[in-house]
Amino acid sequence: MSNAAPPVKGTLPEGATTEADASRKVREMFSQIAPRYDFLNHFLSVEIDRTWRKRTARQLCPILQRSEAIVLDLCCGTGDLSLSLAREGKARIFGADFAHPMLVRAKQKSEAQAAASSNGAQRMLPFLEADALRLPFADNSFDLVTTAFGFRNLSNYEAGLREIRRVLKPGGTIAILEFTEPPDTLSGKLYRVYFREILSRVGGLISGNYAAYTYLPKSVSRFFLPTELAALMTQVGYVSVDFRTWTFGTVALHTATR
Ligand SMILES: C[S@@+](CC[C@H](N)C(=O)[O-])C[C@H]1O[C@@H](n2cnc3c(N)ncnc32)[C@H](O)[C@@H]1O
Repeated sequence: MSNAAPPVKGTLPEGATTEADASRKVREMFSQIAPRYDFLNHFLSVEIDRTWRKRTARQLCPILQRSEAIVLDLCCGTGDLSLSLAREGKARIFGADFAHPMLVRAKQKSEAQAAASSNGAQRMLPFLEADALRLPFADNSFDLVTTAFGFRNLSNYEAGLREIRRVLKPGGTIAILEFTEPPDTLSGKLYRVYFREILSRVGGLISGNYAAYTYLPKSVSRFFLPTELAALMTQVGYVSVDFRTWTFGTVALHTATR
C-alpha cells in the first residue's frame, strides 16, 4: 500500500476554478440530471450498479442488524443505497444530499417501497438536504457513514473525510463505494473505451446533459487509485483501513474505523 500523499484536492468540473465553484457546478449538474438519473444508472451499468450497492449493504450487515445503530448515507442521491441498507436490518438510516431534485426522488421511492411492503417491514426513510462538507449533525452522531458514487464529487476530499470522521462515533465505520480506474488489462482497456466513448455519448443523449456524462469519466480518471484513497484515510486518522475492488477493478469499496 502506497503512503504517498495523493496530489488531488477535490473534483474540478469543467470551468470551475475554486472549491465553491466546483461544489455549485456539481449540485447544478445532479439537479439537472435527476429525472433520468436512475434509468441511466441501471441502463448504462447493465444493472450491475444494483449488485454493487447490495454487496456493500451485505458487507455492513453486522452494523445494520443492530436496532440501536444510527446510519448516515451521504450523497444519497435518489436513495438506492439508503434503501438497500434499510433492507438489511433494523438500524435507523438517514439519507443526505445537497441536490434537492435527487432527494425528492429518494423520498418518492421510499414512500412507494413502504406502501408496497405488506407486513410494514420497509419503513419510510428520512432524507435531508445537507452539504457533505458542512454536515448539520453533532460530533459523534453515527455508527456508520456510507457514500456510494458521491465521494468522488466532493470539492475537497480531505475535508470530506474529516467531516465524516467528526460525525462518526468513536469506533464508528466509514464505507466509500466509488468508481476507480481498472488495471491496464484487456478488460480494463475495453472498459475504458466503453466508459469514455460510449457511456458519455449515450448518457448525454438520453439525459440531454452531455457535460454531466463527459464529467463522469473525467472525474474518475482524476480520482484516487484505491491505494491512494486508503493512504489519505489513514493520514486523516482512520484505522483498520481496507478496500476491495469488484467487477474487473472498476469499483472499490473502502472501509475504515474512526
Ligand atoms: C453519482 S450520485 C450518487 C447517488 C447515490 N449515492 C447512488 O448510489 O446512486 C452523486 C450524488 O452526490 C451528491 N453530492 C455531491 N457532492 C455533494 C456534497 N458536497 N454534499 C452533498 N451531496 C453531494 C450529488 O448531489 C449526487 O446526488
